[in-house]
Amino acid sequence: IKRIGVFTSGGDSPGMNAAIRAVVRSALYYDLEVVGITRGYEGMINGEFERMNRKSVANIIQRGGTILKTARSKAFMTPEGRAIAYHQLREAKIDGLIAIGGDGTFTGAKVFAEEFDFPILGLPGTIDNDLYGTDFTIGYDTSINTVVGAIDKIRDTAESHDRLFIVEVMGRDCGLIALRSGIGVGAESIFLPETKTDLNALMHRLEIGRKDKSSKILIVAEGEGDSGGAFEIADKIKLKFPQLDTKVSVLGHIQRGGSPTCMDRVLASRLGVAAVESLMEGRRNEMVGLIHGKVAFTSFDQAIKHHAEINKDLLKIVDILSL
Ligand code: F6P
Repeated sequence: IKRIGVFTSGGDSPGMNAAIRAVVRSALYYDLEVVGITRGYEGMINGEFERMNRKSVANIIQRGGTILKTARSKAFMTPEGRAIAYHQLREAKIDGLIAIGGDGTFTGAKVFAEEFDFPILGLPGTIDNDLYGTDFTIGYDTSINTVVGAIDKIRDTAESHDRLFIVEVMGRDCGLIALRSGIGVGAESIFLPETKTDLNALMHRLEIGRKDKSSKILIVAEGEGDSGGAFEIADKIKLKFPQLDTKVSVLGHIQRGGSPTCMDRVLASRLGVAAVESLMEGRRNEMVGLIHGKVAFTSFDQAIKHHAEINKDLLKIVDILSL
């Protein structure tokens, strides 16, 4: 391998820039050439390539978002689109790729790698932490800290007004943002896509719960499907407990932005270096992650198929501590 391409794809996450920096700097350290591909697979198809040097990634380790931009490409889902992308890579003499993204990114990488026998390694970049094969994804730590910071502020006003807040956090298919941030803010209850929502149990809890609590926080992951979401839950609570002053707050895309935490910067740096070294050693079509603090490789297939699991013990902690 002489020249590698690096790109970010799918929803952005804080720490993607730190990962790009690590890939570029370590590739140059090992005398490889590096090309930045803009806008993910979309840019690959359009030939949006730019040679990168050490200076191209200066002063970005602390910045949220991705300097390479990101996109979700419909064209890459078609064989024709992928054939154009392959042609563009060949023209640009790129002979290996490092893809930074989540399950959509790795689904594309897997198909492309198989179709054209092209060496690709992936770095887990998503706030959702929903990939199998890594303890944490790049961006998750920053995101849950953003959520905790935001809900702490909500807690201040909730406490002053004796209110119950239902806070919707991101996680289309995965409740890990909701779970950890919920524990971190001392939530009353947490509702996830992976578990059955029992509104009767919630009502019962509100009924028998301590009357001296002046504020209450419930966390709902956006992908929680059973109850119809934060606003529906609020309506039901208002109906049953009209005396409770109930409000909804949807945190939205602030969860995807901001300066990455040190945890995410270190994770991105470690994985970026490991990806370049392993691509040179001939590894391919795998995601590079950390399992129990050690670099580990998981096939794209596994990383996508086996979603990260919800730790039931953590859910129990919520129940025990919120009483
Ligand atoms: O993949 C990360 C994620 O933040 C999900 O939790 C969320 O549902 C989705 O992205 C929203 O992405 P967008 O607004 O870019 O479509």
